Amino acid sequence: MRNAKKLIPAALLAALTLVMAQQESGVVLGNYAQGTLGNVLQPAPVQESGGSTYRVGAWPLYTPDLPDGPGKDLVLSYCQVCHSVTYIPMQPPLPAATWEAEVNKMIKTFGAQIPEDAAKQIVAYLQAHFTPETRKQ
Ligand code: HEC
Repeated sequence: MRNAKKLIPAALLAALTLVMAQQESGVVLGNYAQGTLGNVLQPAPVQESGGSTYRVGAWPLYTPDLPDGPGKDLVLSYCQVCHSVTYIPMQPPLPAATWEAEVNKMIKTFGAQIPEDAAKQIVAYLQAHFTPETRKQ
């Protein structure tokens, strides 16, 4: 009995030493078994018959008409060089200063070739139709 009492702490110490040695050597203990992976219930795949057909709707190419007004022609000629003008009504109503910054970004950051005078008229057009105060639709 005496020996057994000494044996238990010695065994614990040995186990602890082993764990610490493994940690020092970079070994991380853990359970890496797959567990329930693959056992998750899933619906059975639909069995298709050989003659299935399916329909896909038309690709949405709709570009809304921009409101009429001075500067619209300039927008249509300069702003569609790189992307559709859908980008304009797609934005939420933006403050006037933001539209000015937006046009400047197209010119300075993305390299849009827009003469200064035309850029001013484009900004005025955008501000006249696409700010929270001026946007109608
Ligand atoms: C030189 C190419 C070019 C031209 C010209 C151009 N844009 Fe852009 N525009 C971009 C690029 C690049 C992006 C950002 C990438 C994307 O979303 O396709 C962009 C994005 C936008 C966006 C989305 C918001 C944003 O900042 O990303 C708006 C609005 C926009 N352009 C408005 C205009 C207007 C108004 C004009 C005419 C003054 C214009 N663009 C002309 C290249 C151009």
